[in-house]
Amino acid sequence: MKDHTVKLSILKVLSAGGFHSGEGLGEALGISRAAISKHIKGIQEWGVDIYRVQGKGYQLAQPMQLLDATVIQSRVTLPVELIPIIDSTNQYLLDRADSLESGTVCIAEYQAKGRGRRGREWVSPFGSNLYLSMYWRLDAGMAAAMGLSLVVGVAIVEALEKLGVDGVKLKWPNDLYYQDRKLAGILVEMSGQAGAAANLVIGMGMNLKMAENTVGITQPWSSLTEAVCGEALDRNELASMLVNTLHTALTDYELQGMSGFVERWNRLDNFIGRKVKLIMGQREITGVARGINEQGAVLLETEHGLESYIGGEISLRGND
Ligand code: ATP
Ligand code: BTN
Repeated sequence: MKDHTVKLSILKVLSAGGFHSGEGLGEALGISRAAISKHIKGIQEWGVDIYRVQGKGYQLAQPMQLLDATVIQSRVTLPVELIPIIDSTNQYLLDRADSLESGTVCIAEYQAKGRGRRGREWVSPFGSNLYLSMYWRLDAGMAAAMGLSLVVGVAIVEALEKLGVDGVKLKWPNDLYYQDRKLAGILVEMSGQAGAAANLVIGMGMNLKMAENTVGITQPWSSLTEAVCGEALDRNELASMLVNTLHTALTDYELQGMSGFVERWNRLDNFIGRKVKLIMGQREITGVARGINEQGAVLLETEHGLESYIGGEISLRGND
């Protein structure tokens, strides 16, 4: 793994706020000013907006609260690994699933190869969002994984509501939306089976303060900014809350499955009662969204009546 210690040390200094000269940073870290300048360029490539003012030095364009492994670990019982720079938190856990304790969590500040469903890119700039995955050994086996991803989405929106964040909704099967824009995505992947049980990795990317000019996202997106939450969210608190919420949701799901769950989903469904289309390869079906059923299938009222659809290859889009 590449050593990112110097860049992370520079960020630690800059995240305290104010201007920091190249010379001062160089002295503090025992490297030349030229080396600092090179590292700053590397940090900018992670998506951090840093500017330089002649005679003053470098400053972050936006305040940044770094994640702190000790703080997060003190608030959760599951083992947490904070790996600031990573390819993908999901891939990290999938690669190690054989040797991990169920419930192990991986959190990152930046993903070089963050991914969404069907290999699409999940844009993951440093320090402004959350990228979090949990390894879970699901004794109920693979067939139960679809329901689980719906349950996780509901649990997270309900937990945000408890924090006072209103208006976050769900798009089937596993996206969080705010004001019709994608706020977070959940990706459940499997690393094969251990007997009857399924080895799952549940990953979530949630936008907290992504820069408006972020490039590479192909659809409208939103962030949990101060304007949405009333105050800037504490990233360490939020990360711990999400770990604990996932843990409870997975444990409950193993005990109860989807019972009593349909109403909870339907209350939060972003498209319920609205015109949508389902895309399945070349095929498109239009209708009015009617929430989900007990199996976790999406319900659509079409010209042929109420129809249910389920499966990993289906995409839902608004069609108002
Ligand atoms: P579906 O999964 O139902 O086909 P989707 O469009 O949400 O719908 P995904 O593969 O789930 O597709 O997610 C990838 C999508 O999310 C891509 O359109 C991508 O541009 C977008 N995306 C990537 N990074 C982010 C981000 N940080 N915030 C919001 N959206 C993002
Ligand atoms: C989607 O909307 O398609 C799901 C996006 C999931 C992104 C998260 S970020 C943490 C974890 N690691 C990844 O590479 N992907 C998931």
